[in-house]
Amino acid sequence: MQNIKEYVEANKQRFLDELFDLLRLPSVSADPKFKGDVEKTADFVAQKLREAGADNVEVCPTAGNPIVYGEKIIDPALPTVLTYGHYDVQPADPYELWDTPPFEPTVRDGKIYARGSADDKGQFYMHVKAFEYMIKNDALACNIKFMIEGEEEVGSVNLGTFVKENTERLKADVIVISDTSMISMEQPSLETGLRGLSYVEVEVTGPNRDLHSGVYGGAVANPATILAKLIASLHDENNHIAIPGFYDDVVELTAEERKALNEAPFDIEEYKTDLGIQNIWGEKGFTTLERTGIRPTLEVNGIWGGYIGEGAKTVLPSKANAKISMRLVPNQNSHRITELFKKHFESIAPDYVKVEVKPHHGGEPVVTPTDSIAYKAAERALHETFGVQPIPTRGGGSIPIVALFEEVLGLKTVLLGFGLDSDNLHSPNEKYGIENYLMGISTIPLFHKYYAELSK
Ligand code: BES
Ligand code: MN
Ligand code: MN
Repeated sequence: MQNIKEYVEANKQRFLDELFDLLRLPSVSADPKFKGDVEKTADFVAQKLREAGADNVEVCPTAGNPIVYGEKIIDPALPTVLTYGHYDVQPADPYELWDTPPFEPTVRDGKIYARGSADDKGQFYMHVKAFEYMIKNDALACNIKFMIEGEEEVGSVNLGTFVKENTERLKADVIVISDTSMISMEQPSLETGLRGLSYVEVEVTGPNRDLHSGVYGGAVANPATILAKLIASLHDENNHIAIPGFYDDVVELTAEERKALNEAPFDIEEYKTDLGIQNIWGEKGFTTLERTGIRPTLEVNGIWGGYIGEGAKTVLPSKANAKISMRLVPNQNSHRITELFKKHFESIAPDYVKVEVKPHHGGEPVVTPTDSIAYKAAERALHETFGVQPIPTRGGGSIPIVALFEEVLGLKTVLLGFGLDSDNLHSPNEKYGIENYLMGISTIPLFHKYYAELSK
């Protein structure tokens, strides 16, 4: 039997080649024009699971993109690990800001540049390769199930139904997900919380048609100006969110919890340099780590209206729009927050415009336990591969389905992520370190081993 390090060393070129094939498929879930590629990607994942040794592999159709399922049940008496991931990716736009094309994976400085390299193809594929190792070397310590979906980046709209209809098939003892970040290669960490999400689109309407800005400007409210004012009023002078009731359900951390959170290594100067900003910004009374980990936020994701083409057009637009998201923390509820937003935004609209608030998908925040067997197994596995004890962190992103897994399947999740916050997720030039990929593959079999041992 080969140990995992030797196996990774001996097979690393093939592991990279296979990941590159996966990254070449533009499985963008947000844009219907990629529907065919999304389906090809699901088939590719299913094929790779079969080749690695999974049984009952199926590309399960849904009302949207298919979910790939596969399993290996070696002994019903052993614990079962359910691995979740997503094969869909964010749109690569704007393409012109990529140094190399998003769907032609390229290696520079030991990093794989491609859309989906870190989020989440490079991360879920580590589990497929770790599984291949465990099968080939008779090292499977747990039963394993895979559920790889194709709609995570658009809110996992059909996964809930699939989970509810397949509770028997998805029966497991724990869920493991590699779709988050760790602090650095020198300081591995485990995210122990994910934020929830409320997402709305707002539309401000003024006159019934676009107008000549000289003939009507100054006498009729400009929806773009009004929208800008309304948005600006959503934060007060301390950068608190100015929606009545918004913070009502927020769980405040104890002084000790906040202290522990702020002990994580974090260099503010490096942070500013990396982002090219003169200074940081945020809610008064909280550190940067707190602002992204344990506090709710409100962000404009997009704003438009009027003429944005070449040259200048003198026009007073009839409408202006924005997409606004709010990140939520325990115990905020996405439906309640969306309602609060809608009520507030409608109430502050002056009578010379009409506003409409359209809710999009959302998700609930979660905190994952640090005293569970699964967390301890992940801690041990990371300690062994990195030689450093990992620390818990609170992540800023959202994986809305985690709260739903808990609700429907009664299962807790371990967030065994190997990405870095600087991987440019959702941005141009997304990247994933080759070392992160290979270290991940090495760590996963140890997680299974320790999870089985500690479950006895
Ligand atoms: N993998 C990310 C979430 C993430 C990234 C968690 C980094 C922690 C650290 C996931 O694919 C994602 O992007 N989720 C969306 C939410 C979804 C409903 C579109 C997000 O966080 O914006
Ligand atoms: Mn992801
Ligand atoms: Mn994502």
